Amino acid sequence: MTLYDLIVSRRTIRQFKPDSVSKEVLKKLVNVARLAPSGANLQPLEFIVVDDEEIRKQIFACLRWAAYVAPEGDPKSGHEPVAYMVNLVNTKIRDRGFERDIGAAVENMILAALEEDIGSCWVDTIDRSKVQEILNIPEEYKIDSILALGYTDEKPILEEMKESVKYWKDIEGKLHVPKRKLEDVIHFNKF
Ligand SMILES: Cc1cc2nc3c(=O)[nH]c(=O)nc-3n(C[C@H](O)[C@H](O)[C@H](O)COP(=O)(O)O)c2cc1C
Repeated sequence: MTLYDLIVSRRTIRQFKPDSVSKEVLKKLVNVARLAPSGANLQPLEFIVVDDEEIRKQIFACLRWAAYVAPEGDPKSGHEPVAYMVNLVNTKIRDRGFERDIGAAVENMILAALEEDIGSCWVDTIDRSKVQEILNIPEEYKIDSILALGYTDEKPILEEMKESVKYWKDIEGKLHVPKRKLEDVIHFNKF
């Protein structure tokens, strides 16, 4: 698959197979995050890789899923993520303006994971103080987001957006995700 096709085919995944993701692959993901563009090359980001079963359970309890279809969008029992990437910002290096670094690093991880058939959900709805405590994260580190990972066990369907941005589940439980049309977002030369 070309990189373009991989990007077009990517959808957020919230149902995963129970198969574990190897440490080698998880390290590869941190490597592509590390090499992402960084404003002023300050590189304020660090990552905690969580694959331990007991810690995963604790992290899972701190996350919220698919608000537009909750609770139907939650990972079902036995289909939870098998690993998490906890995306940290060292606020001593940079406490503002790191958001685009995060965007580039996380998207790199999402796409590198997808190349290995690993799906992901980028999660922002987090009980951060609990995660900070569970993972023993020092005060000067801010939890930006968490990338939930695992081998894909659902196939969300891309839809052309009509009136609403809200994704929905059909009667078979398949997730449909509306996106704005290309001609609605593109401007050539002038607005
Ligand atoms: C910054 C950010 C935060 C997100 N937070 C959550 C979240 O807390 N829980 C969740 O289930 N999905 C979350 N998502 C996934 C979005 O719901 C998803 O990207 C969106 O519905 C579009 O679907 P797609 O990724 O398949 O294109 C987040 C995505 C982004 C980029």
